[in-house]
Amino acid sequence: MAHYVINGGHRLEGSVTISGAKNAAVAIIPAVILAGESCVVENLPQIEDVRILEQILQHMGANVEFTADGAMRVDPRRINTHTVTFDMVSRLRASYYLLGAMLGRYGHAEIALPGGCSIGQRPIDQHIKGMRALGANVVIERGIVKAHAEKLTGAEIYLDVVSVGATINIMLAAVGASGQTIISNAAKEPHVVDVANFLNMMGASVKGAGTDVIRIQGGRKLHGCTYAIIPDQIEAGTFMIAAAATRGDVVINNVIPTHLEAISAKLMESGAQVIEGDDGREFFIRVSSTGRPRAVNIKTLPYPGFPTDLQQPMMAYLSMAAGNSFIVENIFEDRFNHVAELQRMGANITLNARTAMIEGVEQLSGAPLFATDLRAGAALIVAALAAEGMSSVHNIEYVDRGYEYFEQKLRALGADIRRVE
Ligand code: EPZ
Repeated sequence: MAHYVINGGHRLEGSVTISGAKNAAVAIIPAVILAGESCVVENLPQIEDVRILEQILQHMGANVEFTADGAMRVDPRRINTHTVTFDMVSRLRASYYLLGAMLGRYGHAEIALPGGCSIGQRPIDQHIKGMRALGANVVIERGIVKAHAEKLTGAEIYLDVVSVGATINIMLAAVGASGQTIISNAAKEPHVVDVANFLNMMGASVKGAGTDVIRIQGGRKLHGCTYAIIPDQIEAGTFMIAAAATRGDVVINNVIPTHLEAISAKLMESGAQVIEGDDGREFFIRVSSTGRPRAVNIKTLPYPGFPTDLQQPMMAYLSMAAGNSFIVENIFEDRFNHVAELQRMGANITLNARTAMIEGVEQLSGAPLFATDLRAGAALIVAALAAEGMSSVHNIEYVDRGYEYFEQKLRALGADIRRVE
């Protein structure tokens, strides 16, 4: 298994360009099924989750190829199965988007579900509630969700929890339903809007994405299109935090600053400098810091609140702050597996249910570290970059799922990081 070896204590300096958004990509690729024609998806990140989806679609009979400039062309016309087995989806949680897309297109889907994961149980009851409201018969048998509908009909669906996955999945199925669907208490994350824009580009009518009421006029004939995915908000936030944690000075290119407001606000509150700019071609954010951060408190919330996906890297940063910080994790019940690893680096963190109290220490020290999930991996890398001495970060296959060329990008900023296969 590969791991990273990091010699910490180097300031990150220079510029980095953000890749396409993972959580938009994993929904937009399955959404191509709805078009029934070939689509080209640009600005896709080269990450493991995208490669797995490529393999799943190929296995289903779709034709997937890459253009010279790295865009993915998917032609779903030869898909010859509506079943996706556990072998195919076990490494990809977002496989549930195949359910909404196939139900919307074919009226039938059987998708094996990956189990709970190391950040919590991650139920899909709201996805199922939405599909049932559209008229589908949905059952779970032997770990497989089976959805079938002779006819899907638009409906009004109120989500009991604000769920990114349920909002997108219902949107996908509703595009194939006749009449209007209204999703209330919808998630407002940038990738929800990106998926809606993609569906509209294919000829669908999805209005209100980015607010908490989304209206879908279903049943339109969709066509192929070319679509470029938005930059990854979480990758950008990770580099912003890494810049501040190493007391560096980094220009982060290809970002949408409004997607990063919660992170910018908290970094500034901690004493870092955050400047937003536009170089005439694209937006950038410059993050710099010279001293020890001040303690700040954070509550994770659905967008536009502070994202749960950056809670872990932020905790690594705040472990070195002057004073006590409190972090409340409101989205996932068990997203604290990185804490034990940070403690082995000298961090002083006390957990009480969903709250972490972080008593900042002057300096972390390098240690052998084990990632338990994608963003825990990112947090440990941030901590190791800022710590004094050598760290090894293991289980980096989690990190490969979501960060494109992570070590190359960090090395270009002056980090002493190498991958050992
Ligand atoms: C998406 O997961 C992201 N994944 C996650 O990113 C992210 O952490 C999460 O949204 C929150 O922003 C993708 O987009 C592929 P949710 P998702 O449904 O859709 C509860 C990363 O690191 N819930 O918004 O699965 C759920 O338990 C990953 O990139 C239900 O109760 O998250 C949680 O408490 C990890 N029933 C809350 O809602 C449901 O049917 C929000 O989950 C669905 C969710």
